Amino acid sequence: MGVDVLLGLQWGDEGKGKIVDVLTPKYDIIARFQGGPNAGHTLEFEGIKHVLHTIPSGIFRDNVVNIIGNGVVIDPIILKTEIQKLENLKVDVISKLLISKKAHLILPTHKLLDQASELAKGKRKIGSTLKGIGPTYMDKTGRNGLRIGDINSSNFKEKYERLRDKHFQLLKDTEFINNFNEMENEFLDSINYVKNFRHIDSEHYLNDAGKENKKILAEGAQGTLLDIDFGTYPFVTSSNTITAGTCTGLGVAPNKINKVIGIFKAYCTRVGSGPFPSELNDEVGENIRQLGHEFGATTGRERRCGWIDLPALKYAIMINGVTELSMMKADVLDTFEDIFVCTHYIENGEKINYFPFEISNETKPVFEKMKGWNQDITKFQSEDEFPEELSNYIKFLEKELEVPISIVSVGPNRSETIVR
Ligand code: GDP
Ligand code: IMO
Ligand code: MG
Repeated sequence: MGVDVLLGLQWGDEGKGKIVDVLTPKYDIIARFQGGPNAGHTLEFEGIKHVLHTIPSGIFRDNVVNIIGNGVVIDPIILKTEIQKLENLKVDVISKLLISKKAHLILPTHKLLDQASELAKGKRKIGSTLKGIGPTYMDKTGRNGLRIGDINSSNFKEKYERLRDKHFQLLKDTEFINNFNEMENEFLDSINYVKNFRHIDSEHYLNDAGKENKKILAEGAQGTLLDIDFGTYPFVTSSNTITAGTCTGLGVAPNKINKVIGIFKAYCTRVGSGPFPSELNDEVGENIRQLGHEFGATTGRERRCGWIDLPALKYAIMINGVTELSMMKADVLDTFEDIFVCTHYIENGEKINYFPFEISNETKPVFEKMKGWNQDITKFQSEDEFPEELSNYIKFLEKELEVPISIVSVGPNRSETIVR
């Protein structure tokens, strides 16, 4: 058995959806292992631009099974909408999608608790997508949660109401619970809809598939710097976004993991609050945002933009055991005379090249300047066509990161992908 893992090395939105879609023909199964509809994975091909939130990015290809693993949290309302959009595009979701019985459910009250929590934090808010992710994982670890496997039990409604009422207690002094009926009806209606799909013991399914030599790709959501343990805590999400998350989020043993494909942008972005040492709060940052269309696929918020950050990338590569890299959105830098790389930080007057416990306003980036390629690379089909400056940029990164860059992405479309 062998499971390959594909995940983000920065603060999310690296282009995971695109590369999963590109690589899917090599696999029999694509499985999401963590996160929930806070994710927005964009795929573009044949004139279609599609954003997936809960469903794995292999769903558009034929002869591939897509699994929502136990580590994922599911909002049935969002899942229903997602499935219906795909069915409108003639995707046969019912035959291609399997859902783990152990995946936890996001309740309407989880979303209200998310809002209440952010409101209470005031200026220190995380900038959550408000999809109920944190409260749902809190109920999972607090041993209160409801799972997909529960929705067919005769006392589901009772279990649901018990948890809802507990949440009402927590929300009692707020106005959040006004107009709740509509939300609840939509939730219960979506629960009935989700009953039509196949619910499985995905850990058995995957391990059996592995024994039959089926090829499995685990698709990460968010990014390493948003990991609950190793990210820029507390400005993180509530799951393990790293390779280890595959083990707990799918029931795959560590010795079954083969390749780990780490995805990063040729620069860096972040959406939501929290430290970002190489951020550019100037015209250059704005330029990257416009050229890269850096607006969130889930919330539409502006993404903060900056130069590539090597100490952070090296840290992410170490934590994940990355074996190969995909560099995304190289084309966004096509018009820059110069490109900058953050190679170190300065902290308290000292130069450091590691990712520190806490990144404060005093953690300043040290940049190395490189010459930009300053030409359109979007039509290139092979690396033989790369301008010298782009080849130098890739060589420099490979030397620093000590991992080969096997894919260079030069546009959002499936076809705009150069495999080296
Ligand atoms: P994900 O969450 O990691 O799947 O990434 P998102 O879909 O949230 O954000 C990546 C954005 O960049 C999407 O709009 C993609 O269509 C787009 N994209 C992906 N690869 C490239 C690329 O190489 N060049 C350009 N210009 N856009 C890209
Ligand atoms: P994909 O899979 C980028 C960010 C939010 C916020 C923090 C916590 O598309 O790369 P949460 O909703 O989890 O409580 O938000 O994490 N965040 C993402 N940023 N891409 C994502 O997913 C993200 N999912 C969550 O903006 O800062
Ligand atoms: Mg995204």
